[in-house]
Amino acid sequence: MTLAQALLRWYDRHARELPWRVPPNSAGKSQAGDSETKGWLADPYRVWLSEIMLQQTTVAAVAPYFMNFTETWPRVEDLAAASLDDVLTAWAGLGYYARARNLHRCACFVADELGGIFPDTEEGLLELPGVGPYTAAAIAAIAFDRPATVVDGNIERVVSRLFALSDPLPGVKPEIKRCTASLTPNERPGDFAQAMMDLGATVCVPKSPKCMLCPLSEPCMARAQGIAETLPRKAPK
Ligand code: ADE
Ligand code: SF4
Repeated sequence: MTLAQALLRWYDRHARELPWRVPPNSAGKSQAGDSETKGWLADPYRVWLSEIMLQQTTVAAVAPYFMNFTETWPRVEDLAAASLDDVLTAWAGLGYYARARNLHRCACFVADELGGIFPDTEEGLLELPGVGPYTAAAIAAIAFDRPATVVDGNIERVVSRLFALSDPLPGVKPEIKRCTASLTPNERPGDFAQAMMDLGATVCVPKSPKCMLCPLSEPCMARAQGIAETLPRKAPK
């Protein structure tokens, strides 16, 4: 069994239930505006919206905002048709208001210029307002099952520990990216990315990682060397 397979098996039991994910028992159920064939979480609009909201904001803070936005504006066309004022009002409290302006600009661009269809490649997604390299990779993987290399702060920590990468951040980032790419499977790459995020959020936590509960403890090099908690290192300022 590969490391990715071990992680996906863990995810199938322990994934956090988040409003932008398909609850296990309703996978395949469709939702307003979505196609018949896709489960509601593969809806690129919802994936895009959640990823923009999750930039610089925690999962716990985002969840109620995500639910309010998707109830008020179930499809990208609905968000595009809203006034910027209404979007900014609904955003109030999430911070970083440039994100809300870009969110509205992006919704208008997708609705008006792309016929309401999100690009389905990393390169195409990168052209969208407010979508940088991390977000493009995350949407490509989660919404379109592309084996994009997704690295956020949680994944950075997990991977630096798995490979016992002891060079400090930020210099070690390219190596983390290469290591993450080497682990990313062609099967279920979106679930793999989210499983890495969940492992980092719930098991491979910054202080006192719970290696006893970790599905990757066997291959983990930092655990073997007893240096997990010291990673990732940060360059002194
Ligand atoms: N942070 C960014 N994207 C996320 C996701 N899809 N699930 C959990 N945490 C995230
Ligand atoms: Fe993190 Fe420990 Fe799992 Fe290694 S074994 S990935 S340090 S929780």
